[in-house]
Amino acid sequence: MEDWSHCLDVAVQIALRAGQVVQSAVKQEKQVSSKSTPTDLVTEADHQVEELIISTLREKYPSHRFIGEESSAAGVKCELTDDPTWIIDPIDGTCNFVHSFPMVAVSIGFAVRKELELGVIYHCFDGTLYTARKGHGAFCNGVRLQVSKEKDVSKALILTEIGAKRDPATLDIFLGNMKKLLSAPTHGVRIIGSSTLALCHIASGAAEAYYQYGLHCWDIAAAAVIIREAGGYVIDTTGGPLDLMSRRVVAAGTRQIADYVVKQLQPINYGRDDLT
Ligand code: IPD
Repeated sequence: MEDWSHCLDVAVQIALRAGQVVQSAVKQEKQVSSKSTPTDLVTEADHQVEELIISTLREKYPSHRFIGEESSAAGVKCELTDDPTWIIDPIDGTCNFVHSFPMVAVSIGFAVRKELELGVIYHCFDGTLYTARKGHGAFCNGVRLQVSKEKDVSKALILTEIGAKRDPATLDIFLGNMKKLLSAPTHGVRIIGSSTLALCHIASGAAEAYYQYGLHCWDIAAAAVIIREAGGYVIDTTGGPLDLMSRRVVAAGTRQIADYVVKQLQPINYGRDDLT
């Protein structure tokens, strides 16, 4: 088995540097535009940070491939091959970033032979660093992470994100799914505006489950390694294995809670990352 620990060290250094750029950019005036829908925002900083991360990694690892949120939006094919591939969200929580709402992260995942090998997520506002490498545990600022072991959904806190589609039919399904999970009853449902940080809360045991339709491979890649290494489950919304390109996910601390969430969900079709 190849040792990817050097890649984890490099990813951590780059995430910290990228985080500094985000921290100073948040204080400045932002140039905001939209991508797939009026609520799918992008700023100059998203492009700058992605360029910084990819160019630094490319210099270190010239043979590796890259999937980045903003490169994909600009038309670069989002393709996961067997080659070592970095999967990058330069600013996750762009809408939060635009409003200076303090839930913004840099996310760097890495896959080899289509297997997720490591993940680094840096919370740019509070400086929390989440790291994991397959088979070597997950950590938050160096302290080992452990998911919640709760199996009883009536004691669960559930997280989700809204996704970019806001047409009435999509919102009806979104709200219907949330209603089912609220009336289980669960302790509550939360939306924080950053998929990657919400997923980190599953890894740390601060919440029991996460589900979403409409996120992307760069929202899931790093977080999936972190959650699995903290003992949790990251699966498809049908209950089958995660399909990184499918734009949907359920994550949970226990299989019982993951299965319960899966059974409640009515799907929302966002298409696939590798077909756009
Ligand atoms: C988005 C955020 C948002 C979630 C979207 C993501 P971005 O990422 O995590 O909370 O609902 O699905 O794509 O665009 O801010 O990097």
